[in-house]
Amino acid sequence: MGKILVTGGAGFIGSHTCVELLDAGYEVVVMDNLSNSKEAVIQRIEKIAGKPVDFFKGDICCAEDCETVFSQFAIDAVVHFAGYKAVGESVEKPLMYYNNNIGGSVTLLEAMQKHNCKRIVFSSSATVYGMNNEAPYTEDMPTSATNPYGYTKVMIEQILRDVCVSDGDFSAVALRYFNPIGAHKSGLLGEDPNGIPNNLVPYIAKVASGKLECLGVFGDDYDTPDGTGVRDYIHVTDLAKGHVCAIDYAMKNKGFEAVNLGTGNGSSVLQVVEAYEKACGKAIPKKITPRRAGDIAVSYADASKALELFGWSAKADINEMCEDSWNFTKLNPAGII
Ligand code: WQD
Repeated sequence: MGKILVTGGAGFIGSHTCVELLDAGYEVVVMDNLSNSKEAVIQRIEKIAGKPVDFFKGDICCAEDCETVFSQFAIDAVVHFAGYKAVGESVEKPLMYYNNNIGGSVTLLEAMQKHNCKRIVFSSSATVYGMNNEAPYTEDMPTSATNPYGYTKVMIEQILRDVCVSDGDFSAVALRYFNPIGAHKSGLLGEDPNGIPNNLVPYIAKVASGKLECLGVFGDDYDTPDGTGVRDYIHVTDLAKGHVCAIDYAMKNKGFEAVNLGTGNGSSVLQVVEAYEKACGKAIPKKITPRRAGDIAVSYADASKALELFGWSAKADINEMCEDSWNFTKLNPAGII
């Protein structure tokens, strides 16, 4: 099958993808600088998969680290997760985001080029659909962004398109995630953010486990059935399986493809809260607060291209996602240590 370098492989989506790659028969090398993840995750990946993982503590921004990993391991393809991903922080620290996310990706791609590694799956985001497209989003829509984090995703997709034009043998798949939530069924892997979560479900999880008092619902005056924001939540394991399909595809094809990974269905904030209350068996205290700047009312995928190209579709519903999230939260009260 081949040896896959997973940058950011100790992170939430990266770790789940490592498990699915190992299950599919690939060998995995994780490169992670552990700036937003823990090395203990590597042992948990190995425990779930029952197979070894090579771990290299390194930074994609460091040309020497990239050179070392490609010299040490015969890498056939790359799944590239490593990058900063907090929208608000990117507004406060744009240069840190542009340097790390774009600069790091260029450094990684230069090392790939030097070592004749010509296949990459990139962790993009539905955020590239910006504010000017109407859901359901299709991959042919124009991309834009409303914050530096989003612009790094738009720009790295463009860089991959340009590399594929310059080298006809190169294969790049940009996966546009909608809202990944949930956790591995074993309860060994899950979302384990530092500090107060920006995102809805990790925040609800902390309220459910008593670490936070009350959920703020960011506005109930949107043009949606119950007035709260609607998003396309996708189980992280479904998302991880989509990455295996993308690697399989990249190994056999050339050129650039952008592909949505979403369920094609939307759930409102209040619907997610209700599903989480069912999963954890307790009420989630909540209050309506003003809208969050930059939020859109509705975002969900047209998921047909992933089905046509990969034969992939998401399986889990919102109830299963919340059950698995709660299971992980219950089993890891202090997070992953
Ligand atoms: C979901 C809904 C909020 C928190 C973000 C990034 C995006 C991607 C996924 C990386 C919205 C509401 C949230 C809260 C709330 N990340 N909400 N109270 O904003 O759709 O997307 O994560 O690629 O780039 O922007 O996800 O989970 O923050 O919000 O009411 O405490 O929940 O208004 O409607 P979002 P989210």
